Amino acid sequence: MLKEWLSTSNYTVIFTGAGMSTESGLPDFRSANQGLWNQKNPEKIASTDALNNNIQEFIDFYRNRVLGVKEFKPHKGHDLLAEWEKKGIIQSIITQNVDGFHQQAGSQKVAELHGTLQTVFCQSCGRTYSSEEYVNRTYHCTCGGVLRPSVVLFGEALPEEPFQMAFEEASKAELFIVLGSSLSVTPANQFPLIAKENGAKLVIVNREPTDLDGYADETIHNRNIGEVLRDWNAYFS
Ligand code: APR
Repeated sequence: MLKEWLSTSNYTVIFTGAGMSTESGLPDFRSANQGLWNQKNPEKIASTDALNNNIQEFIDFYRNRVLGVKEFKPHKGHDLLAEWEKKGIIQSIITQNVDGFHQQAGSQKVAELHGTLQTVFCQSCGRTYSSEEYVNRTYHCTCGGVLRPSVVLFGEALPEEPFQMAFEEASKAELFIVLGSSLSVTPANQFPLIAKENGAKLVIVNREPTDLDGYADETIHNRNIGEVLRDWNAYFS
């Protein structure tokens, strides 16, 4: 069935979460054993409250994540998605991830709903820098303001442009495939439902059950995304 949907869909949109990057070496947030939020409370660390009242822990946490995205790299699954875009098999990627791995692998049309760890910006004047500044333990702007990663913190609105693009892509999708997300965070988890409401087939590939499995036309659990994408690639070769 999936082979048929992948081959006949004229507009296929991929939606990725942290499970897309665990095979690159980056931890996800809610996996039963090694998720980041099993050790830390996101509201206390990845929030504007933490930025304003717990700055040292905030900086330590995000410096570690910046080091992670510079140490690790896209895996074969990211490469396949980029190849499929070039071949016209998929049309776009909506990602919750902030590692920049889809673009590094060559994907062109990517909506980064939650921003990126590749840059930091000044809380006071807004000037943007490479996140190398955090690697070098530079945490202040030339104006004296605090530098923070260009990611969406809990309590903040999503950036308008990627949100708009994601809405358009989900609305146009004939086939909407979720890869590696628990689908537990709003408003990102609304896009699979928008696609479904607009007549798309919804496929969820996630090691563990997700909050939206009941809406899916097909779910694939207990398998690694890299392996699933390699299997699918055989359909197109
Ligand atoms: N293959 C398949 N599934 C996997 C793999 C893998 N190799 N690795 C992890 N998973 C699954 C886990 O079972 C988990 O359910 O990926 C899912 C990742 O879910 P989360 O950790 O909740 O990540 P995500 O859905 O992206 O979180 C959304 O929450 O903290 C915020 O802003 C952060 O963007 C993030 C958002």
